[in-house]
Amino acid sequence: MALVNTAGMFEKAYKGGYAIGAFNVNNMEIIQGITEAASGLKAPLILQVSAGARKYANHVYLVKMVEAAVSETGLPIALHLDHGDSFELCKSCIDGGFTSVMIDGSHLDYEENIAVTRKVVEYAHERGVTVEGELGRLAGVEDDVNVSAEDASYTNPDQVIDFVSRTGCDSLAIAIGTSHGAYKFKPGQKPQLRFDILEEIEARLSGFPIVLHGASSVSPEYVKMVNDFGGKMPDAIGIPEEMLRKAASLAVCKINIDSDLRLAMTGAVRKHLAEYPEHFDPRQYLGDARAAIKELVAHKITEVLGCDGKA
Ligand code: G3H
Ligand code: 13P
Ligand code: ZN
Repeated sequence: MALVNTAGMFEKAYKGGYAIGAFNVNNMEIIQGITEAASGLKAPLILQVSAGARKYANHVYLVKMVEAAVSETGLPIALHLDHGDSFELCKSCIDGGFTSVMIDGSHLDYEENIAVTRKVVEYAHERGVTVEGELGRLAGVEDDVNVSAEDASYTNPDQVIDFVSRTGCDSLAIAIGTSHGAYKFKPGQKPQLRFDILEEIEARLSGFPIVLHGASSVSPEYVKMVNDFGGKMPDAIGIPEEMLRKAASLAVCKINIDSDLRLAMTGAVRKHLAEYPEHFDPRQYLGDARAAIKELVAHKITEVLGCDGKA
């Protein structure tokens, strides 16, 4: 089995009413924790790499580690660029072995977003690579860019047919109230997503895969673990799991998760070092971090995404 693109997995996910987890990867322990969980549950996977991850870990190291995970597990795994912000970045990932890319033109005006997405699609499709576009703007933090709630905007259902048909993209990321990072809602605010917009988009695009970014649930148990062992995170609120399950049963075929992985990993490392202050072998605390990632991803696959047994 080689790396796959997202076309086949999305087609099955749409028909089956479940979603594929797209997990951000930055190092070996994260890749191993995610792929060990998916392997035990026979779940298809998307491993995604941001520009920041590429800068941190090096493109070639990440590709080789993900390829190693494919040969170890035999799972259908897509290697995806998360939030590509230019044609050049997407091209570099396509040329360097990625099987899927996101071109995020959501910061551009509508016609410019269409033009750059179309350009990436033309280059990608000639090489068997699938492309995710984005319409609408999420709040939150991506790399060094912080989009305030005032600058965020929901996806306009009136634009989706035009965008998808003129760009030829294979999936569409939309903004319905999720946001990046651990602080998705203000303290005391009740999480809400615009399912009416999702349903309207689904009706217009019938059968077309939708992507949900900013979909971490910010599990209170991990926030507690971070804070119980010396962390100082303010109260955080994520997307309730029942909302993600509902999205997965609708047109959402890809659910992006990064912040939950960061929390699980940091909580486990803090706990380990607090409980064993004499330890200084990184394999001891990173081993616990990898186990926490595995547990978290197994929970997401079985309780949120519903993609277990679908590989
Ligand atoms: O959407 C952003 C992801 O959480 C990736 O974050 O750009 O800091 O690697 P990063
Ligand atoms: P979270 O910050 O909610 O994990 O979202 C991650 C994401 O959308 C990556 O593209
Ligand atoms: Zn995102």
